[in-house]
Amino acid sequence: MRLDLCQISLQQTQELLRLINSTLQSICCRRFTDEELYSEALRRVLGGQGRRGPRSIFMHRDEGRGVSWGRVFHLRSGEVVEGSEDIIIDPESVYSPSRLTDEVLVSNWRDTCETVDEYQTNFHPRVKSFIGQPITNFIACRIRGDSAGALLAFNYPGEATEYDAGVLLGLAVMIGSLVTLSNGVRETESAFIYTIEALARACEAAEEGTGEHVVRVNRYAGALAANMGLPIDLVEVISYSAQMHDVGKIKIPNAILLKPGVLDEDELRIMKLHPEYGERILGDSPRLQVARDIAISHHENWDGTGYPSGLRGENIPLSGRIVKVADVYDALRSKRSYKPCLSHDEALAVFRGGDGRIDPVRHFDPVVLRTFFEIEHLFARIYESQCSADA
Ligand SMILES: [Fe+2]
Ligand SMILES: [Fe+2]
Repeated sequence: MRLDLCQISLQQTQELLRLINSTLQSICCRRFTDEELYSEALRRVLGGQGRRGPRSIFMHRDEGRGVSWGRVFHLRSGEVVEGSEDIIIDPESVYSPSRLTDEVLVSNWRDTCETVDEYQTNFHPRVKSFIGQPITNFIACRIRGDSAGALLAFNYPGEATEYDAGVLLGLAVMIGSLVTLSNGVRETESAFIYTIEALARACEAAEEGTGEHVVRVNRYAGALAANMGLPIDLVEVISYSAQMHDVGKIKIPNAILLKPGVLDEDELRIMKLHPEYGERILGDSPRLQVARDIAISHHENWDGTGYPSGLRGENIPLSGRIVKVADVYDALRSKRSYKPCLSHDEALAVFRGGDGRIDPVRHFDPVVLRTFFEIEHLFARIYESQCSADA
């Protein structure tokens, strides 16, 4: 028995470690929900297949302000099945797990009652009905952290033991820590995005008006990247980095930036420094690598005739090739002091046959250009939805 328990314990600890490992990787990619984590944890650590686990789990969460809800899961043949619908429990009621004072509580019916029937009066009627069989033992553990609540595991084979309590507590601590950590990562992430949005808005060239240009460029670039089949993480990064393509224009004098009409040779030379200024402003943070690639390369041409470096073909970063198409489309659609705005169909005609400045075959990556034609209706929709009357 002792050897068996050691083996089960080792196996459950290993599963717990594997789950922590894979969840930490997901946290970095920002892809998991609390619900998924709970189900996965219950399945891996307490599920069947030789493991010693309870028959059912009631997972209870305190949502603050008097809202308290939970759900029953059953563990059968290694799988979590039949999660019940939400069960709302009045936090003031005698059944509320939030009244649990100890960190862990182990209870077997013989400890407190004469009969199993008498023991049933301790449990909330809806929880009991979802468990579907008389409760003979349970272990309750508090969950700390952002998703505070409790885990109640019912009906271990034979008796619920201190060993079972240790495993359940390990699970509760892990879930509490990972959810709190993940919320922290999400908050940091949204603070990061908020900051770069503020930077992009602050630096948006006055010529481009209302701040809608950068929002649209983000969305066109995201749509192109997604429809080119790029990995979702890269699509996301491109979608928020595109808006910083012209960050370097903050260093271009207003006399040039706001000049009505065409720039002379000297002014054009200064204007063309904005990609390098942008690259320098974005610095060397690894988090801004894609933004930096976009800032430095969004005026390069596929045939090597662009600036600042005259890069050619796939030597131009893919993110820059994508943002170039997005930026040119939006510039065509927008009114400037030196040109009227074009309709979607007129902009499409330029993407097909070019105009005095744009030669689509020589300037754009053919794959990005093909994708643009596949989803041009999305470009029209994005422009219409993010466009004030004067844009
Ligand atoms: Fe630019
Ligand atoms: Fe732009």
